[in-house]
Amino acid sequence: MRSSLLTGAIAAALSFSGYAAAADTEAWKSRSIYQVMIDRFARTDGGEVDCKLYEFCGGTWKGLTNKLDYIQGMGFDAIQISPVNKNIDEDTAVGEPYHGYWSQDLTTVNPKFGTKEDLKELVDELHKRDMYLMVDVVVNHMAQKFDNIVPPKVDYSKFKPFNNEKYFHSYCNVTEWENSTNYQNCWLYPYGVALADIKTESPDVVTLFTKWIKDLVSTYSIDGLRIDAAKHVNDEFLPKFVEASGVFAFGEVLTGVTEDMCRYQNKSKNLLPGMPNYLDFYPLNEAFNGGGFERLGETRAQAVDSCNDTLALGTFIENHDMPRFASQNDDLTIAKNAMTYVIMADGIPTVYQGQEQHFKGGETPSNREPLWTSKYDTTAPLYVLAQTLNKVRKNAIKKSPDYLKKTSKVLIADTNHFCQSKGPADNAVVFCITNKSSKGDSYEMSVGGFKDSDEVVEVISCASSTADGLGQVNAFMGAGEPKIWVKKSALEGTDICPKITVDGPKEDSGAVSAKGAASAGVLMAAVLGTASLLL
Ligand SMILES: *[C@@H]1O[C@H](CO)[C@@H](O)[C@H](O)[C@H]1NC(C)=O
Ligand SMILES: *[C@@H]1O[C@H](CO)[C@@H](O)[C@H](O)[C@H]1NC(C)=O
Ligand SMILES: *[C@@H]1O[C@H](CO)[C@@H](O)[C@H](O)[C@H]1NC(C)=O
Ligand SMILES: *[C@@H]1O[C@H](CO)[C@@H](O)[C@H](O)[C@H]1NC(C)=O
Ligand SMILES: *[C@@H]1O[C@H](CO)[C@@H](O)[C@H](O)[C@H]1NC(C)=O
Repeated sequence: MRSSLLTGAIAAALSFSGYAAAADTEAWKSRSIYQVMIDRFARTDGGEVDCKLYEFCGGTWKGLTNKLDYIQGMGFDAIQISPVNKNIDEDTAVGEPYHGYWSQDLTTVNPKFGTKEDLKELVDELHKRDMYLMVDVVVNHMAQKFDNIVPPKVDYSKFKPFNNEKYFHSYCNVTEWENSTNYQNCWLYPYGVALADIKTESPDVVTLFTKWIKDLVSTYSIDGLRIDAAKHVNDEFLPKFVEASGVFAFGEVLTGVTEDMCRYQNKSKNLLPGMPNYLDFYPLNEAFNGGGFERLGETRAQAVDSCNDTLALGTFIENHDMPRFASQNDDLTIAKNAMTYVIMADGIPTVYQGQEQHFKGGETPSNREPLWTSKYDTTAPLYVLAQTLNKVRKNAIKKSPDYLKKTSKVLIADTNHFCQSKGPADNAVVFCITNKSSKGDSYEMSVGGFKDSDEVVEVISCASSTADGLGQVNAFMGAGEPKIWVKKSALEGTDICPKITVDGPKEDSGAVSAKGAASAGVLMAAVLGTASLLL
């Protein structure tokens, strides 16, 4: 990210209780993002209709505005939404443009999602709540229905503002996924729709796009962007576009290869300030699907070496492009471990709608289930967990801004565990996740990260213990549950763990629910004189 974007706005972003006019990288690092697919989040009428997943289901900006409590209630303070521009009107052999990625007219907001006023109202309501808005933008292509006879016959005059063939690369199909000239200049997925590939290296296109993004960001007070298919436009375009926008951006670079990813966040010249972290995504998935955590540990170390700033990457385990986590293994406990990593690891947490409801859809469009099928259940276990995790993260940031400044220390990355310590030594947040699943056995292990005699609390079970002479806590592992420890003193003045019990071995007879442990804790807290922590 260029330093011009970093000056000034940092202080503004952190101190305003409303919103920051230009939310930069530093400001975004403290945020936690909930990804919304507009057509599938909530309808204006609140209706819980059945719909076909290839077609419009009827979600709108107004529907989302009406349901922000659901998102804020989980502790998210930013949302990422589908592209906002008008798409093609037709149904195609690959469905309707319910997802918003098939732009036709960049000068008009998508009437399927609402009016200009509806979008402004959404932003106003977000900013009132001190929440940020990240908008997905498509710069790689414009779309037109296509009868599958190549080369596609495209009526360029239908596109706005790119209403002429001269703004586009001539047709070729992307066939060489290792050859950047090929995957940047040719057209993606020519089937059902022709994704006419915009010539982003042309100065005229740069002029039109930079003007467009400045207008869009200022008209709607947008705080950040996700740049769709960033890997498929030429390198030089990206920093110009981001700079013109004046806000932070994630650029989608779909690769699990460290050099290919970190090239975009080069230590001497950034092409993009941040990217969704596909480097962690693959080994994290692998760890819960038959593999161990060793590769996750290695990948992270490589990324810290090669990328300019891994803290500006977006940590995720689900998005609208990948099969749901639970479509591979629907054990709820491993989903809790994955969610713990997403919110507590380095980087900007990004949770995709439905993840908190343990949705199980596979490949697109099955992974785009309407959220209303969950009845927006705020007692769902992963909803409640996200709430706790976001509180703990926010509290750590508030207690010590240094929490966000350094990458965490990997304590354990072995067959069954990944443990890290994050934040300054006197205010560390330590977590251990495991892939043992709900069938996991009970055992104890030592986990460091604290100081001699520190009193700590494991915040999911709300159980306290004391660190030994080496600063290690005794982790009472059981039923595959994740663990997160913070210093007890860090919880003062918060509503995290109002009732604290004393940690001890878990029974082998299955999961000890956090609720059960907490109510037992009322007694223990009184006995041990820790009642002062009952807030
Ligand atoms: C690298 O990241 C730091 C911290 O986010 C930032 O200040 C700096 O500008 C980045 N470097 C480049 C070359 O963009
Ligand atoms: C485009 O290329 C892909 C391979 O990358 C191939 O599967 C597909 O059939 C091609 N489509 C057309 C229309 O040529
Ligand atoms: C890469 O793709 C471009 C565009 O399709 C092509 O002209 C070029 O020959 C390819 N390069 C290699 C090394 O295959
Ligand atoms: C970063 O950019 C410099 C200058 O353009 C280049 O020499 C270097 O190889 C790049 N590093 C990476 C990791 O791509
Ligand atoms: C956890 O990792 C171990 C070691 O690689 C593996 O045998 C086991 O299947 C993994 N567990 C799950 C639920 O994938």
